[in-house]
Amino acid sequence: PDVFLKVYPETESTNRTAKQAAISGEAKHGSAVLAYRQTEGRGRRGRKFYSPYDAGLYLSVILEPEGSLQESLVLTAEAAVAVYKAVKELTGKDLDIKWVNDLYYCGKKVCGILTEAVTDFESGDIEFAVVGIGLNIYEPEKGYPSELDGIAGALYKSQEEASGINRNQLAAAVINHLLRETQKLCIPGEYIDRSMVVGRRICIMDNSGERTAKALQICRDGRLKVLEKDGSESILSYEEVSLKI
Ligand code: BTN
Repeated sequence: PDVFLKVYPETESTNRTAKQAAISGEAKHGSAVLAYRQTEGRGRRGRKFYSPYDAGLYLSVILEPEGSLQESLVLTAEAAVAVYKAVKELTGKDLDIKWVNDLYYCGKKVCGILTEAVTDFESGDIEFAVVGIGLNIYEPEKGYPSELDGIAGALYKSQEEASGINRNQLAAAVINHLLRETQKLCIPGEYIDRSMVVGRRICIMDNSGERTAKALQICRDGRLKVLEKDGSESILSYEEVSLKI
């Protein structure tokens, strides 16, 4: 296996390509796949990630984390911090982090992260994980699809405004920060400092429907502790949350 960075003009999904490379034994820790466009960009919960040509950074990094402590929730949080740091360094912009996998700029979602882990059946250890990052660099000329109206945004309003941004530098900064962050075994401090959820009223969506609660804190393992309406506390790991105004 090799460490590589493969750049495609177009792929179905960089996560898919990276996963195939990891499963086939072709790639090892730190390898990455970048595409200028995805035809089937994947989001969490089976959603699509809109990935128009050139307007975003569509990147997947293969990690072989050690031990079972490194849960995918922590990897996702570390990836969010890696994106936060890379964007701050190269653009000066401060992104906010919405538990668990989204980054926001000026109230709009500009980045989503999809971590897909393959675990060993017997030990439960992660064999490898593919961390997929979709970062909207500039708003496409014809805007976002109507279902993303009011939700999706980008670092820059137009291609022209984004002309000072070097995609390769951005990708390199994200990869370097990600490799550094994932050496640690717990949630980075920046993930908590930049959280736009802690202390806020949130709406929780799970299989049994929707409810409101107050977000109390992010635990060391990446789960979210909330105060339910009846005064009890619960800990969330995979539910979807949205902010209540
Ligand atoms: C989400 O918002 O639910 C997560 C979106 C993750 C999108 C990225 S783009 C690069 C990588 N390849 C994919 O198919 N998905 C991730």
